[in-house]
Amino acid sequence: MQEKTLAIIKPDAFSRNSGGQIIAMAEAKELSLIGAKLLHLTQQEVQGFYKVHREKVFFDSLTQFMSEGPIFVLVFQGENAIVRWRETMGATNPAEAEEGTVRAQFGENIERNAVHGSDSPESASFEISYFFNELELVR
Ligand code: CMP
Repeated sequence: MQEKTLAIIKPDAFSRNSGGQIIAMAEAKELSLIGAKLLHLTQQEVQGFYKVHREKVFFDSLTQFMSEGPIFVLVFQGENAIVRWRETMGATNPAEAEEGTVRAQFGENIERNAVHGSDSPESASFEISYFFNELELVR
């Protein structure tokens, strides 16, 4: 099943110039880039994106981190793209991420974990439309 998923290269990884290597890891897993945007969000804009986490203890810290510098927002397309990108990223906590995954290689800790990926078709749909309109995705 062809799917789209939203990926973010977070401020920690972007600021260390790791964006290109991370995109290469996704492309090696047959995830094709169909949308891309470099953004520096306000904390309020990040709060809207992560609203499902608003009750979590780490919400303030997460939204501060995600607004501290530029992020690279990407849309990948491919067979089972949602699960495939999540497998490519590895576990949320880099300390638990399998060797060869993006977070094992580029993540610092459970919050500064280099990348984001949608966790379901519903969240992919919300997250893609948070950043992109139809004209901004190539077909
Ligand atoms: P992400 O996949 O973007 O989804 C929510 C983010 O919250 C997650 O990656 C981490 O950056 C962050 N996060 C998740 N769990 C924790 C935690 N226990 N403490 C701090 N940050 C967390």
